[in-house]
Amino acid sequence: MKRVLFLYYSHSGHTEKMILAAAEGVREAGSEAIVRKTLDARREDLVNCDAVIMGTGNYFQKESGMFRDYWDRYDYDWLKMKKEIGIKPYAWVVSAGVGGDACIATVDNLMKQLNFRRVFPTVVAFEDPTTDDLVNCRKLGRQMAELAPAADYVDLDPPKKSGRWKWPPKMRVIAWKGIGAEVAHGWGDPLAQEVGSKLIVTSDESASNCFRHIKAGRFHYTTGARVETGQMLTAEGEYADREGGPFPVCAVWAQSKNNAGFMVRGDSPIKEIYDVKPGTRLASLAGNPASRNIVEGLLAWAKVSPADIKWIEHKSYADTVRSVIEGRTDLAFAMPLSPVVAEAEKQSGGIRWLEMNAEKDPEGAKRFHEVDPMEGFGVMFVGVPSCIGKWGIVGTHLMLAHRDTDRILVYRTVSWLHRHYDVIKDRHEKLKWANLETVLAELKQTFLPVHEGLRQTLKEEGVWTNALEERSQANAALVDRYCEAYQECIDTADERGIPVRAENPAWVDLWEGYKKEKALPPLRPFEGL
Ligand SMILES: Cc1cc2nc3c(=O)[nH]c(=O)nc-3n(C[C@H](O)[C@H](O)[C@H](O)COP(=O)(O)O)c2cc1C
Repeated sequence: MKRVLFLYYSHSGHTEKMILAAAEGVREAGSEAIVRKTLDARREDLVNCDAVIMGTGNYFQKESGMFRDYWDRYDYDWLKMKKEIGIKPYAWVVSAGVGGDACIATVDNLMKQLNFRRVFPTVVAFEDPTTDDLVNCRKLGRQMAELAPAADYVDLDPPKKSGRWKWPPKMRVIAWKGIGAEVAHGWGDPLAQEVGSKLIVTSDESASNCFRHIKAGRFHYTTGARVETGQMLTAEGEYADREGGPFPVCAVWAQSKNNAGFMVRGDSPIKEIYDVKPGTRLASLAGNPASRNIVEGLLAWAKVSPADIKWIEHKSYADTVRSVIEGRTDLAFAMPLSPVVAEAEKQSGGIRWLEMNAEKDPEGAKRFHEVDPMEGFGVMFVGVPSCIGKWGIVGTHLMLAHRDTDRILVYRTVSWLHRHYDVIKDRHEKLKWANLETVLAELKQTFLPVHEGLRQTLKEEGVWTNALEERSQANAALVDRYCEAYQECIDTADERGIPVRAENPAWVDLWEGYKKEKALPPLRPFEGL
């Protein structure tokens, strides 16, 4: 059980309501709340507690004078008692007219000197706290009671020459063109508006370019599905050039889920996967090994050899879909949310999707995974009406950042997204997946390490486990091995005068050989934790 000390002053009772709600939260979590107005508090109170929640009104952009009184009385003693106090977490509730929590800076500074670590975003009420404010206070109390031992906390406000931590003036996101950019605006606009930052969303059609920009540190966030992220880390195909290839990328949050499947024309004799037979005409997309992999996975499920298939080459994804409708191809891998599929659905006779029910046919799904282990199966939920409720390929798009991205920025972004899920979930149909549940489900499977800012949030939520810690560290170690090997291989190529370009077979051979020589294991999703 924790002892949480509440230290506050309140003239009109606004701050007091917040403090009492937070104290209820502490008690709900089975811990002890010691509630003290500053005038009644004793110096030992700070020693005899595990965590502190402080509260004050904003008076002339400072803490209330009565609140400050406590510190004025004991200031010299505090410094002597520093050792006895040890490292402890603390948080704030503030009631203000218009000035927000600008009033806590002086005491914050003192807390830092005393080795306290500020752990949760401050709950700020505008004058009399609303019901929502009080719910947030209660939650703060609960979270504080459930927090792990302090030595492990990220210092949310490390001393900097430039003063207090601030949101960057511009928050930069690089997103896939179209839906990716819309989704980024969905979560990013309200966040940027609230914190006084400007959201810049740049879109690019290629996932590999998005990663290149993140690698170069030009953007804070992007998103990635398993396949593309895996290709980047192992520098496959178009990723294998000097600016591309592996870098220490980390999971930050879940942005969305996506689904895809295999589409036939409404009148096709192919009703289920096992109707795919030698001679079936299958769409193949030039230069896209990932989609070819998926198609070969389907063939493994259907027990048909790729050699017996009539492959119809296409130059663009849209063409693969149109070719099914026009009867040039029998079957194509397609994304139900794409405009070209919506167009196809409107044709007379419409389209159908082959059920990929991994629960009903686990052996078939297993054969698929032997060829393409990156994909997961599930019930499709987004896109043209014909796909909804059918089993297809379902995957999570994680929000990603470079490991070196400011951990406080990531922590604050993630905390904001988590706390404002109710605000963002309806801003785009995909954002209903941008929540803790999706993050936790994907972290059980991903080969990516967890960014320190997300790790901190998960700790505060009480859901960070030893198993997650170990998995994340092991993932980070493997990502580091890839990064080092890639750089070494580029150095070797430079020495030998081999141009490092994705379309240069000499370079690709060198890198593929190097991976084998270094015994780098492939990146695979895990079945669980
Ligand atoms: C004398 C006085 C000065 C104030 N100065 C500020 C201020 O500078 N900025 C601000 O945001 N609110 C200011 N306020 C508003 C208070 O912060 C607000 O009423 C708050 O709810 C008071 O909390 P309390 O009653 O729990 O002490 C001021 C209020 C008073 C009475």
